[in-house]
Amino acid sequence: MTAADAASRRARRLALEEVSSTNSIAMEAVRAGDPGQLWVTALRQTQGRGRRGRSWVSERGNLYASLLLVDAAPLASLGQLPLVIALGLARALSALRGIEPDAVRIKWPNDILLDGRKCVGILIESERLADGRQAVVIGAGINVAAAPDGQPYGVTTLSDHGFTGNLEDVFRAIAGEVETVLALWKGGRGFSEIRAGWLEHARGLGQAIRVNLPDRSIDGIFHALDPEGRLVLKRDDGALETHSAGDVFLLGEDMAGIICDKAR
Ligand code: BTN
Repeated sequence: MTAADAASRRARRLALEEVSSTNSIAMEAVRAGDPGQLWVTALRQTQGRGRRGRSWVSERGNLYASLLLVDAAPLASLGQLPLVIALGLARALSALRGIEPDAVRIKWPNDILLDGRKCVGILIESERLADGRQAVVIGAGINVAAAPDGQPYGVTTLSDHGFTGNLEDVFRAIAGEVETVLALWKGGRGFSEIRAGWLEHARGLGQAIRVNLPDRSIDGIFHALDPEGRLVLKRDDGALETHSAGDVFLLGEDMAGIICDKAR
């Protein structure tokens, strides 16, 4: 048994067939008194949520998994969590049988891509509970066998990249690696090691990108990752801007599909 297997078997888990959203179930559990360190998994979601209010298509064949943490870190460090979890997921996918590790990349802050196409989306939600505890739910949608149509970016699956295992193999890998990176992170004190690991998997560093913000899009060079894991963008005039949220597209590669769609 590998260390990742052992870790995943230690975690508590609620394995369900069909739910509205595994993030919602995990949040309901903590509101009802759950102490945390609980995985909620499902085979299908009827109201899967993505980032920025988007829905997450959640048919059978893929893995929907949420991890509930309680008082995981000081509030000031919680903004690092997307990068921590992305590193765990990237390492988990790289270790799956059939997957070529070099194909696995992280698109800032926490999309996992295989050969440039999105395979995993992560949604982190947090809530201060009435009793003062801080709950964080980390939800991951992993395209194991099905790639939903009609997305504004390229999508792919583990199966398309040579993975022949099942959903349980994927769950064991992600639960184990997420436990490992959380231990490395130490509630924020170990973020420099996480940041270094993240950079080893980074996609687009030094390249021209577009950052879609809620109210506008801005172009520039992905110049650096700051010590807190924020994206530093270099604008045409040389000015450096730091962003803590946004959707990133590689100009050229990622935009090709979008430009073609608009031209139709
Ligand atoms: C994204 O937009 O990229 C994030 C997608 C996150 C989807 C996962 S599936 C499991 C968990 N439950 C949800 O409703 N959303 C997350």
